[in-house]
Amino acid sequence: MSAPAVNRPTTGVFSSRRADIDARTLRTDRWWLQPLMVNLGLAAFIVYATVRAFWGRDYWVADYHYLTPFYSPCISSKCVEGASHLGVWFGAFPPWIPMGMLVLPILLLFRLTCYYYRKAYYRSVWQSPTGCAVPEPRGRYTGETRFPLIVQNGHRYFFYLASAILLLNTYDAIVAFHSPTGFGFGLGNVILVANVTLLWAYTGGCHSCRHVMGGRLKHFSKHPVRYWLWTKISWFNERHMTFAWITLGTLAFTDFYIWMVSSGTISDLRFIG
Ligand code: FES
Repeated sequence: MSAPAVNRPTTGVFSSRRADIDARTLRTDRWWLQPLMVNLGLAAFIVYATVRAFWGRDYWVADYHYLTPFYSPCISSKCVEGASHLGVWFGAFPPWIPMGMLVLPILLLFRLTCYYYRKAYYRSVWQSPTGCAVPEPRGRYTGETRFPLIVQNGHRYFFYLASAILLLNTYDAIVAFHSPTGFGFGLGNVILVANVTLLWAYTGGCHSCRHVMGGRLKHFSKHPVRYWLWTKISWFNERHMTFAWITLGTLAFTDFYIWMVSSGTISDLRFIG
């Protein structure tokens, strides 16, 4: 597929000293398909998560103590009774502040600065490049050397904060084994536990985690425990892209299931309690 002749930068493969090939790329496969799928996937999640973050209700199932991860921790006095696992820190939020405002910006920045997502949106949104051997539509490129993109180097701090949030999500998943008579076990528990397990797989496979745990060492032979950890983290790191997408899906699905049960649209399938 050739790019239009107008507005074509006279740099890169179109600069005067390069071989004179008029086509933008000579690739004959559907190289645009992957960026398109990435854009659709990201847009679908962003729209769903934004709607639900501001929804303001149907995030807690009182009988079974199910709390959606989008509202954890619930720290506003507007939170329904029982949903505030860390206590109430503020008065009633106005409707334009989501109840999960303490964690949502952190999780957004954690994923935004993630090495995999950077690759995904640099390619599909910024076309930098749209595909391998497909020239960029711009003539100037500074990579991550300038503000604001130089801030991407702070990813490890979002990794630390996101790990703390994940501990809280794990606590939420454990206290959800509840019923009005005490212990309880239902389909919601399976969904919450699966989501939190996959979030650990995504977070544990973070490139910053791999670096901090052992990647920055020089002599693995002197650090057997960290070497062992590094090998395990590397396994998840190799599958980081897969877990990045799976966890977007499980987060949305967990929230959707709790929304449906909380609003009374469906009932939870109960095994015990
Ligand atoms: S690199 Fe993806 S979460 Fe850290």
